[in-house]
Amino acid sequence: MRNIILIGAGQIGSRHLQALKSIQIPLNIYVVDPSNSSLLTAKERYNLVNIQNIHNIVYVQKPENITGTKKIDLAIVATNSDVRSDVVKNLLRFFEIRNLILEKILFNKLEDYVSVDKLLEEKKCRCWVDMSMRTMPFYNSLKKKFDKDAVLYSVTGSSFGLITNAIHYIDYIAYLSDCYDYEIITDYLEAKPVESKRKGFLELNGTICLNYKNGSKGFLTCFTNGNLPVQMEIISSNCKYIVKESEKKAWVANSKNRWKWKEINIDIPYQSQMTNLVVESILNKGTCPLTSYKKSAKLHVVLLDSLYKFLNESSNTKRKFYPFT
Ligand SMILES: NC(=O)c1ccc[n+]([C@@H]2O[C@H](COP(=O)([O-])OP(=O)(O)OC[C@H]3O[C@@H](n4cnc5c(N)ncnc54)[C@H](O)[C@@H]3O)[C@@H](O)[C@H]2O)c1
Repeated sequence: MRNIILIGAGQIGSRHLQALKSIQIPLNIYVVDPSNSSLLTAKERYNLVNIQNIHNIVYVQKPENITGTKKIDLAIVATNSDVRSDVVKNLLRFFEIRNLILEKILFNKLEDYVSVDKLLEEKKCRCWVDMSMRTMPFYNSLKKKFDKDAVLYSVTGSSFGLITNAIHYIDYIAYLSDCYDYEIITDYLEAKPVESKRKGFLELNGTICLNYKNGSKGFLTCFTNGNLPVQMEIISSNCKYIVKESEKKAWVANSKNRWKWKEINIDIPYQSQMTNLVVESILNKGTCPLTSYKKSAKLHVVLLDSLYKFLNESSNTKRKFYPFT
């Protein structure tokens, strides 16, 4: 049996767990969360998935309660960013972890990006970050259409969680253009942070501008007011797309079709339909299409450090960490 640890069984962790149920390789799954109510909800959600269970599942409140094996084929860390680096460091010290998937936003301190990188190398652990747009069939297929051209990428909507989602869009632009060098302009953000939907964390509204070395540009705008649905536009000199995930529709126009808009139906899978695919790929082939830790850490640090400077310069509170998750 292969051994999997899932640490953090909250909203997204319980969806990762649901996905694991459909894996056809028998697994020992250890679910770890200090919150009994998170463990109970995760268990309920797992049981709701209408597939015959072939796995052995153990629910525990601390990783130390996992007895019997130290060799772990794969661990998923789905806690919030504030505890993630400690959780990862403890995991890597206590177990022999071969593969790791981490949730975004990775960590809340700059030094953790370096120390975790070192530890991963020392322990020879492969690591990816769950920025899944590039793995979704629709978004994945656009890479060929844009053919690494510089793109103009915009996202607009009301109160959609600009910072927690920005890293998904930043990663997706990097994927489309094969370019991981970028800078951020924070001048058009609103100075006052707002509470995140995740307790104890912050969000920002306004516009983030992204400038990639290959010429791609991004404009991510989140309005404080209203209920504008999230809309994405991706434009190059040969092709343009409008995407409305909430309507499961996209519109495409290109030079070949004389720029005539064509409507297409799109499928945006849930996390509970995706984690199984990356886990199976890792267990069978030792790799998966998610972004590697190194590339993801590079994208995270540019975003978080710019936002950190922006927050500290625009308010009297001098923070010692990144208050985002
Ligand atoms: N990749 C994506 O598309 C995606 C989607 C949603 C959320 N996320 C990210 O996942 C993270 C978690 O989000 P959420 O909505 O599930 O939050 P959540 O608060 O629902 O879940 C966090 C869980 O971690 C548990 N926890 C806290 N400390 C722990 C520890 N030391 N060890 C183990 N578990 C611990 C909490 O008890 C809780 O159950 C956030 O960083 C969020 O941005 C990513």
